Amino acid sequence: MTRFRTFFLGLAATFFFPWLILIVLPHARMRAMQPVAVDPADPTKGEYPPPVPNIAKQGEKIYAREGCAQCHSQVVRPTYLGIDSFKRGWGREQENLNVPVLTRTTQPMDYYGETYAFLGVERNGPDLSNYGYRAPAATALYAHLYSPKSFAWWSTMPSYRHLFESRKIQGQPSADALVLTGEHAPADGHEIVPTADARALVGYLMTLKKDADLPGGGAEEAAPAAAATPPAS
Ligand code: HEC
Repeated sequence: MTRFRTFFLGLAATFFFPWLILIVLPHARMRAMQPVAVDPADPTKGEYPPPVPNIAKQGEKIYAREGCAQCHSQVVRPTYLGIDSFKRGWGREQENLNVPVLTRTTQPMDYYGETYAFLGVERNGPDLSNYGYRAPAATALYAHLYSPKSFAWWSTMPSYRHLFESRKIQGQPSADALVLTGEHAPADGHEIVPTADARALVGYLMTLKKDADLPGGGAEEAAPAAAATPPAS
């Protein structure tokens, strides 16, 4: 009889605690959130959602097609989900890199107007939500996509060489030909240039900034980041 009781209580606890932590507590917190009225005519706010350049719209499709979201997330962990203190704000990569831009945690509205919401599956590579703030010049980004290992030997990012083409130099070399040395260098008389897909992808990456002013002020989520002090240089 006691064994049955222990078994039954154990079973109940196994279901009860996850249910409490994963469903009841987040639900209780989210229920308290107030809806924010969107007023597109509010003159104190810029256009919302912020206009996205055409090239970024095309690049978004390449990002999806190439499976970048398998390794890169685009979400700065919100504080209202799950247990509050666990890796709160995870994904604010530029703070680690000492780029003095402080961004807020991601809000659902940040994905508004996107064809896909690239939340991501795993954080194998850095979070790209606000990559636009720390992106290098396009040429460096091309070279990184072409051969990630030439930047960091430990990089597990695959090479995206199929987004580039090697062609014979005819007359003047192309202005955006990749500057590569050593084993990655193109054959004599050849140059490696980005295809239209690579250009679109880089255009997309360089405009990634998920911290637009939200209608209604971005609520409490915006405050901690804005109030934090910039990293010491
Ligand atoms: C197998 C996992 C994987 C995939 C798939 C992948 N990456 Fe990466 N990526 C990484 C890792 C790991 C790093 C960090 C090391 C480095 O810089 O190479 C990284 C770094 C980066 C960086 C530099 C980030 C920073 O903060 O400096 C960019 C930009 C990037 N990846 C873009 C892409 C794009 C675009 C794709 C799809 C075409 C992609 N990645 C696919 C693993 C991946």
